[in-house]
Amino acid sequence: MTAYFGRRYMVSASHRLHSDQLSAEENRRAYGKCNNPHGHGHNYVIEVLVAGPVVAETGMVVDMASLDGIVKETVLNRFDHANLNMDALFVNRVPTTENLCREIFTLLEDRMPAGRLHTVRIEETENNFFECRRAEKE
Ligand code: NI
Repeated sequence: MTAYFGRRYMVSASHRLHSDQLSAEENRRAYGKCNNPHGHGHNYVIEVLVAGPVVAETGMVVDMASLDGIVKETVLNRFDHANLNMDALFVNRVPTTENLCREIFTLLEDRMPAGRLHTVRIEETENNFFECRRAEKE
């Protein structure tokens, strides 16, 4: 049986949605007020879902302290109170929350045993959320 452990983290960050591959008009149409040159901020809620067996000795899926350490080093220290557009990951990539979710998934996956990271979910506003997970055959 597979069990799942989820934990939520908060990141406050700013971004501006603008693609160099679109014209000024296309950018305004695609992103609306999110294309405003001055950017804007979000309090992102990032949920990390880890899958695995319940380890007999501990009764746990994952050691929460080590997960917190990985998320702190990889995600919180990097993105909290940051301008996402200034991050190397978003030099050539629009910092939409879809892309942020993908990048956070990859950053965390690289630090965890294979197959353990199940889903990264980000709430951008109370009405918007995004999820990333590996497809079965990817
Ligand atoms: Ni936004």
